[in-house]
Amino acid sequence: IQAEKGGYKHFMLKEIFEQPRAIRDTTLGRISLDTGKVFLSEMKISDEDFRRATKINIAACGTSWHAATAGKFMIERLARVPVEVDYASEYRYRDPIPDPTALGLLITQSGETADTLAAQREMISKGSKTIAICNVVGAMIAREAHGTIYTHAGPEIGVASTKAFTAQLVALFLFAVHLAQARQTISEDEGRALLEELTMLPGKVEEILKTVDGECEKLARIYSNVSDFLFLGRGIHYPIALEGALKLKEISYIHAEGYPAGEMKHGPNALIDETLPVVVLATQDKSNRDSKLRYEKTLSNIQEVTARSGKVIAVAVEGDTDIGHLVEHVLHVPHTSELLLSVLDVIPLQLLAYHIAVRRGCDVDQPRNLAKSVTVE
Ligand code: G6P
Repeated sequence: IQAEKGGYKHFMLKEIFEQPRAIRDTTLGRISLDTGKVFLSEMKISDEDFRRATKINIAACGTSWHAATAGKFMIERLARVPVEVDYASEYRYRDPIPDPTALGLLITQSGETADTLAAQREMISKGSKTIAICNVVGAMIAREAHGTIYTHAGPEIGVASTKAFTAQLVALFLFAVHLAQARQTISEDEGRALLEELTMLPGKVEEILKTVDGECEKLARIYSNVSDFLFLGRGIHYPIALEGALKLKEISYIHAEGYPAGEMKHGPNALIDETLPVVVLATQDKSNRDSKLRYEKTLSNIQEVTARSGKVIAVAVEGDTDIGHLVEHVLHVPHTSELLLSVLDVIPLQLLAYHIAVRRGCDVDQPRNLAKSVTVE
C-alpha cells in the first residue's frame, strides 16, 4: 500500500498532487488550438441535437453535484442555454416535466451511484437523450448514456474526491465550449482564447501546489481546533465554496458551511465572532466585467466579516495587494479567465481540509460512515 501511495502519506494527498496530470489528460486529444474547436468522441448526439436543445438537466450527488453547479455557470455563460441542476436523489422523486428537447447530463466519478443512475433512467423515460461525465470506463451510467465524456483522472482511492472533481470541471468546460460552438454563441477567436487558457491550467495548478501546500500546513496549526468554518463565494465560486466546506467536514469532522457571500446578511452574519474562520473566494479576472463586479462585492462581504471580528482566509489572485490589508491570511493562485478560476480556487481548499484533518489525527482516506461510491439508495 505504501508503494501505491507513491511516497505520499495518504492517497488523498497523492491525488491532490496528481491534478495537473488529470487536467492535462482530460484535455488531451480533445481540442485544436488552430481551429479553436473541441472534439468529443463517444457522442451519439449530433450538433443538430445540440442546436435544438431547449434546456440541460443535470443530476449528480456529492462532490459531483458541486461540479454540476459550477458547470451551470459555464454552460449558460458560453452556450446561452438554460441549465437546471438537481441532486439526483431529489430529481427522481420530483415528478420532472417531460421535455424531449431537453438534454440530460449525469456527472459521476464512479458511474455507479444508485441515485444518479435512477435519475438518468427517469430522464430517458421522459424522452431525453443523456450524456455522462464519468471517470470509470464502461461504468453503468456511461453504458446507458447516448454520449460520454470520460474524465481521465485515473483511479481515485481517497473517499473525498479531489482530482476527479477538477477533471469534471474541465470536462464541463470542454462540453460548454463544444455546445457553444454548435449553437454559434461564441466566435472562433473566443473559442481559441478559452482553449488556450485551458492548456495553461495544469502549469498553474502545479504552481499552486508548490506554494500553497506549506501555507495551508501553517494555517492548519492555527485553525485545527475550531468547531465551525464558513466558506463564501459568489457566482461560479459559490459551488467551490460548497466543495471547500464539504471537503473539510467529511475528512476533519469540523462543521463547515458553504454560503453565497451575498446571503450572509440573511442569517450567517449572526454566527460571526472572533472564533469563526471564514474562507472567502476573492479571485478575479480583471478582463471580465462580471468578475470585477463580483470581486468588489466580495470585498464588501469581507469587510462585513472583519467588522465583526471574524477571521478571514482569502483566496486571491497573485498580485492582489489590496486584499492583504483587509484579512488575516491570503492564499494566492495565478490568473486565468473567470470560469477557469474555479479550477484553481478549489486547490487551496483541498489542501487546507487535508492538513487540518491530518493535524486532528483523522483517517483522511477513509472517513467514518462514508463510502467511495454509494450503489444503494
Ligand atoms: C460518495 C463519495 C463522494 C462522491 C459522491 C458521488 O458520497 O464519497 O466523493 O462525490 O459519492 O459519487 P459519484 O461516483 O457519483 O461521483
